[in-house]
Amino acid sequence: MLSNSLLLGRRLLKTAPEFSAAIRTATYLTADGKPRGQLFRRNLEIVIDPNEKLIDAFMDGYGKQRLNFRREDIAMWRETFKDNYRLVFTVLKGTNTVIATTHAITFNPLPNHKDTPHQYLGFYWIHPDYRGVDSMRMTEYIVKKNSKCVSDNAIAQSFPTSFKLWQKMFGHKNYGHIQSVSYYEMNEMKVPEDLDTSGIIIKNAKDVPDKDIVDYDNTVFPYERSKYVLAILRSPIGFGKVAYDTSGKVIGFGTVIIYPSGECVLSPLYADDQRVAQAIFKNILEQIPWDDKKLLRFHVRSVDKIEKQFEWIQPFLKCPVRKEASAFLTYQSHLPTIHYQKVFVNFPYTNCAI
Ligand SMILES: CC(C)(COP(=O)(O)OP(=O)(O)OC[C@H]1O[C@@H](n2cnc3c(N)ncnc32)[C@H](O)[C@@H]1OP(=O)(O)O)[C@@H](O)C(=O)NCCC(=O)NCCS
Repeated sequence: MLSNSLLLGRRLLKTAPEFSAAIRTATYLTADGKPRGQLFRRNLEIVIDPNEKLIDAFMDGYGKQRLNFRREDIAMWRETFKDNYRLVFTVLKGTNTVIATTHAITFNPLPNHKDTPHQYLGFYWIHPDYRGVDSMRMTEYIVKKNSKCVSDNAIAQSFPTSFKLWQKMFGHKNYGHIQSVSYYEMNEMKVPEDLDTSGIIIKNAKDVPDKDIVDYDNTVFPYERSKYVLAILRSPIGFGKVAYDTSGKVIGFGTVIIYPSGECVLSPLYADDQRVAQAIFKNILEQIPWDDKKLLRFHVRSVDKIEKQFEWIQPFLKCPVRKEASAFLTYQSHLPTIHYQKVFVNFPYTNCAI
């Protein structure tokens, strides 16, 4: 079952005595307050690149509760990032019980961009029965073993839930942007009729050349993620669009993905200006199956480096714009370069800095 998994676990066993010794006296509780045993090196398997059986086990628990995620995303991340992707599960030894997940993606700068690679950390989750100092120390160990081998610069959009971990791992909690989120019920949304979309031509992302999408993405984020951006915009459960001006120049792209949970996630939405962003979103909304009872709500994120952060969406709402702060772009040594001017909505936060 765990054939390709044990290297890191063995290293942890041999080289991290601090993982257990320093905290042996603490009492650990499950989510409903019952005492649990401490996590030790000897009762865990640290599984790099988990197999389908373990992914099924994860899906049976937290995986199916996460509204903006589906099982196929893991295959997509593996396929599009290839050797730059590493998924790690922590499993109770001798079982299929997944108690923690994390992943890391290495982003190399484009050839004409001067920077070192950074490693993006995300997909942090600890089973509620195993949260505590022991699992956090284990996570730090796994993260450092992962990131140190490819890059000295770790990046993450850290949520309040993972901020302590970040600070302890890297010694500071300085951050770049603040990410906010808005949720809207389906009946709070509308398709405005009077938007001026003249001169903006919208095409399906599946029908345009790869280069149109990739080149535009590179003007915002000068790091290699070409296969990923194509996969997101052409997701079979999404509505990926690319906008052109009348001379055939790309002026934006965006998608809404409807997850099996019914969550309608707008991510990303990049555009030259607000009029283009609105034209893309309008085109998508005209194709959403509004009468499908499974649709849960709209989920929209944005970052505070953008002037009038969520203002562009107001014509699509029957209610005032709402937002709540959700995460901070934290970094180990320095921030990646991000050209924020075109960013109306960032990419999925678990995978990229923007
Ligand atoms: C994110 C998540 C893994 C964090 O776990 P957590 O147990 O809630 O984290 P905490 O910050 O409370 O840490 C637990 C304890 O370990 C300590 N700790 C954190 N990192 C540590 C480290 N590297 N070394 C030693 N101790 C550490 C904390 O200080 C805390 O102890 P305290 O309460 O005495 O201060 C967990 O909340 C989770 O799975 N949430 C759902 C998914 C999610 O929100 N993911 C985040 C996406 S970025």
